[in-house]
Amino acid sequence: MILSPSILSADFSKLGEEIKKVEPFADWLHIDVMDGNFVPNITIGAPVVRSIRKITSLPFDVHLMITNPEKHFIDFVEAGADVITVHAESTTSLYRLVKEIKKHCMVGVAINPATPLCMVENVIDEIDMLLIMSVEPGFGGQKFIERSVEKIREARRMAGDAIHIEVDGGINDSNVAKVIEAGADVIVAGSYIFESDDYRNAIEKLRKFMK
Ligand code: DX5
Ligand code: ZN
Repeated sequence: MILSPSILSADFSKLGEEIKKVEPFADWLHIDVMDGNFVPNITIGAPVVRSIRKITSLPFDVHLMITNPEKHFIDFVEAGADVITVHAESTTSLYRLVKEIKKHCMVGVAINPATPLCMVENVIDEIDMLLIMSVEPGFGGQKFIERSVEKIREARRMAGDAIHIEVDGGINDSNVAKVIEAGADVIVAGSYIFESDDYRNAIEKLRKFMK
């Protein structure tokens, strides 16, 4: 089981300190890259990834919510990403893109809530991780979409045990147990951690369900 705090809800004016606060309790660090095009919001670019790479050894779980991922992913490889996840909806050549990313680091494919699992069926043997979005991508702090639980279960049936299944969006202490039971093994949580008064305590509350 892997816990990957999403820094999207961190205080960007002291990003280094925020990362240091979760570092001892986290397995990966989830970094949301948005371009204002694939999703409505604009967030973090490769220069920020490169600069936080210097202050932590946590693996970087980079979630690209951008158009033209084939053009930009290499910037994030060079900035220090350990896992790069691209959206199936963001490219017309997913198979080729997955193969390209795989030459450099671990590769994940994400699907939006309205995208069916059959979209990724033909790349499932090539990827290290499938990311099931449990909110519409674009913003932190949204409400978990309940249907995601069955989608995770179906994804685990389709993928077997060979790959990670990550869940991202609206995760908290009241829904983490059911996504794990359905088959997720990489848990992203943003606002639940970074909007709490005590990050360690929030992480420990999630970890209780992650045995
Ligand atoms: C949403 C992002 C998520 C987000 C999760 O588009 O991909 O990673 O930061 O935040 P919470 O946990 O607050 O839903
Ligand atoms: Zn994300």
